[in-house]
Amino acid sequence: MSAGSAGVTNRQVRLRARPVGLPRPDDFELVETAPGELSLGEVRVRARYISLDPAMRGWMNANRSYIRPVEVGAVMRAAAIGEVVLSRHHRFQVGETVVGMLGVQELGVAHGDQLLKVDPALASLPTLLGALGGNGLTAYFGLLDVGHPEPGETVLVSAAAGGVGSVVGQIASIVGCRAVGIAGGAAKCRHLVEDLGFDAAIDYKAPQGGDLRKAIEATCPDGIHVYFDNVGGEILDAALGQLAVGARVVVCGAISQYNAEGRVLGPSNYLNLIVKRARMEGFLTFDYQDRYAEGHAQLAQWLGEGRLRTREHVVKGIERFHEALMLLFTGDKLGKLVLELQ
Ligand SMILES: NC(=O)c1ccc[n+]([C@@H]2O[C@H](COP(=O)([O-])OP(=O)(O)OC[C@H]3O[C@@H](n4cnc5c(N)ncnc54)[C@H](OP(=O)(O)O)[C@@H]3O)[C@@H](O)[C@H]2O)c1
Repeated sequence: MSAGSAGVTNRQVRLRARPVGLPRPDDFELVETAPGELSLGEVRVRARYISLDPAMRGWMNANRSYIRPVEVGAVMRAAAIGEVVLSRHHRFQVGETVVGMLGVQELGVAHGDQLLKVDPALASLPTLLGALGGNGLTAYFGLLDVGHPEPGETVLVSAAAGGVGSVVGQIASIVGCRAVGIAGGAAKCRHLVEDLGFDAAIDYKAPQGGDLRKAIEATCPDGIHVYFDNVGGEILDAALGQLAVGARVVVCGAISQYNAEGRVLGPSNYLNLIVKRARMEGFLTFDYQDRYAEGHAQLAQWLGEGRLRTREHVVKGIERFHEALMLLFTGDKLGKLVLELQ
């Protein structure tokens, strides 16, 4: 039976209410529907893995940021990877593997122009979604294009054991920099140094000497030339205090602030940007769409050469969406977080 036939059902996670602070289970509902007809140009995809991204928290809020909010009652927006099961687009055939914004659902539909074909022989599906997908591209363009790291410089990255951060540190090493990661817990810090080849790691939950600023100072004695910020808040402030002259602060994300119910905590240490003649710059991976193929090819080459190592944390079952999402905020996971669908 094809996915367009009668009798096929599609389970999807919808946003039931806008979360206040940390999302709660009843902010979402799991709904079973029948897939509709495809319009010309559309493609139906059976999702195998859904990408769980911190940005999803922002999309649940009413205010528009760089993209419109997810409407209450709508399918939760998410990137996913899966196989084409029905196509009304000339470029896509049944059975091909694609990535796109397909939502948290078993059977997603997107216009073919919004889907990217990927080669499942290159890597596992979670890796294609993570280190060779959005996370890897974010690390690649954010570090190289915004951070401009030079050989011999020190690159510090926060949320370093996560999807984006783990790739940032490894690219920093590849281009000849000293890679230092900040992560929560001794096990993650060991993983950064022993498995991913970081030069040093700082456990922000229990920094050596009991003080994060001092730990950064001790680990980056020549100053930080590039700080790749994934978390914002107090860790950003601590990093700003140890910038080298001419440093670049890449503002990628601020996960410590995404569930803030009041005002977002901004950097109070920013006067050091003046003292160090430093620059702080935000970026969006979306802006590099024209260069995705370049980034993907380079990341795939590094992966093939064994210079880029990947790790994914897989949670099985669409019904565990909320539980899985929370791991982004508790940090109880290692590497790229994905939801596997049966
Ligand atoms: N600008 C863009 O276009 C773009 C694109 C993609 C992603 N991003 C951003 O990149 C960042 C990383 O995303 P990702 O998908 O790779 O997520 P991730 O790093 O795999 O997961 C989030 C990690 O953040 C850490 N964390 C959570 N709460 C924290 C807190 N209060 N303080 C410090 N660390 C905290 C946790 O690690 P620990 O155990 O180490 O605490 C957690 O594992 C996010 O901020 C995201 O919004 C930006």
